[in-house]
Amino acid sequence: KPPPLSLCLNLHDIEHAASKTVSKRAWAYFHSAADSLASERTNAADWAKISFRPRILRNVARVSTRRRILGQAASLPVMIAPAALARLAHPDGELCLARGAARYNVPYCASAYSSVAHGELAACVAADGQGRGGKLFFQMYVPRARDEAAAMIAGARDNGCAALVVTVDTPVVGRREEDERHSLEAELESGVYVPPAYAQRDMADAAPDPEGSEPRGPHSAALDWEELKWIRKQWGTQSGPLALKGIQTAEDAKLAMEAGVDAIYLSNHGGRQADHAPSAARTMLEIRKFCPEVLERMEVVLDGGVRRGADVLKAVALGASGVALGRPFMYALGAYGTEGVFRAIEILRDEIENQMRLIGVTSLDQLNLESINTTILEQELPRSL
Ligand code: FNR
Repeated sequence: KPPPLSLCLNLHDIEHAASKTVSKRAWAYFHSAADSLASERTNAADWAKISFRPRILRNVARVSTRRRILGQAASLPVMIAPAALARLAHPDGELCLARGAARYNVPYCASAYSSVAHGELAACVAADGQGRGGKLFFQMYVPRARDEAAAMIAGARDNGCAALVVTVDTPVVGRREEDERHSLEAELESGVYVPPAYAQRDMADAAPDPEGSEPRGPHSAALDWEELKWIRKQWGTQSGPLALKGIQTAEDAKLAMEAGVDAIYLSNHGGRQADHAPSAARTMLEIRKFCPEVLERMEVVLDGGVRRGADVLKAVALGASGVALGRPFMYALGAYGTEGVFRAIEILRDEIENQMRLIGVTSLDQLNLESINTTILEQELPRSL
């Protein structure tokens, strides 16, 4: 049994509670990161390398945390990141996330690999009794077959998803050894729940590749900027912004702009994909240094290693409209179900408001590069491209 939720003062406490309560299989899946774990470690380390430049005597009696994220009004600059298979840890699975999004009016980007049907999540987000409503976005990995991709995009539109987020850092799935070890163990046990969508997608992999060299897996490893044009057309411009998730360099940010994408989502996938990848903070600084015009034309959201309200505010000061969190919400629902997700959002809200007062800002649009000191990270950027 986890400790009482009221004893969780921060997101680390919730993570600790989850480590003691969810199954080994779920813990390994949520907690694991790729290969050497360098990408995951750099996420946390880089937030710590940015400090604030607090201003004083600025009348911070009233603060507003409101923000627009991917075109939607939100009560916080916070979004629930797409994360698969929540039912591994709780029978209500992603419904816990949708309820949190609805109650606190923060956007929720549902994963293509959700273990609850997207229609159910959409209904849950829309059916907020308090009239505030959350916003559902849809994340997709582009499958191999175009008709399957078209069906996914149409499904997202039918469910009223307000943005399409295409994850582009996963031509193949990163190697997460902690997860692999436990999956293998779990395979030996019987009765482990595998959501049908997941099982089916593994099956999609069964067609043999005539060349024998293309990586196996459910996603299209052949996806490129040319193919992206097709996706752009399928989604259209009436249904909300199209965002690319997993941008990790200034060059790709620029290519995304040239491809007519509406938003970029800087992320190294929580350190679960490429080994020794940059943090989103670093990618943001790289973009600012080498192609700042990108930030005039496209909205930027980011994620990875955000665990405190202060991290959220650092990201906003760097120029992000919104900041997503993945693992913390999965830990919260795993340990405490819906109440845990509520509490995680409240913790973030309280930390954000408190830190805003302490650094002398009353609304998020007052945050900019003068609010923070990024000297340490800037020293580590490439000299030229
Ligand atoms: C993810 N992530 C992810 N991303 C995505 O685009 N589609 C997905 O289905 C998933 N699934 C997923 C499952 C789990 C268990 C985790 C932890 C992560 C990545 C996620 O959207 C996000 O980029 C990271 O989780 C952000 O890092 P933090 O907040 O976990 O440090």
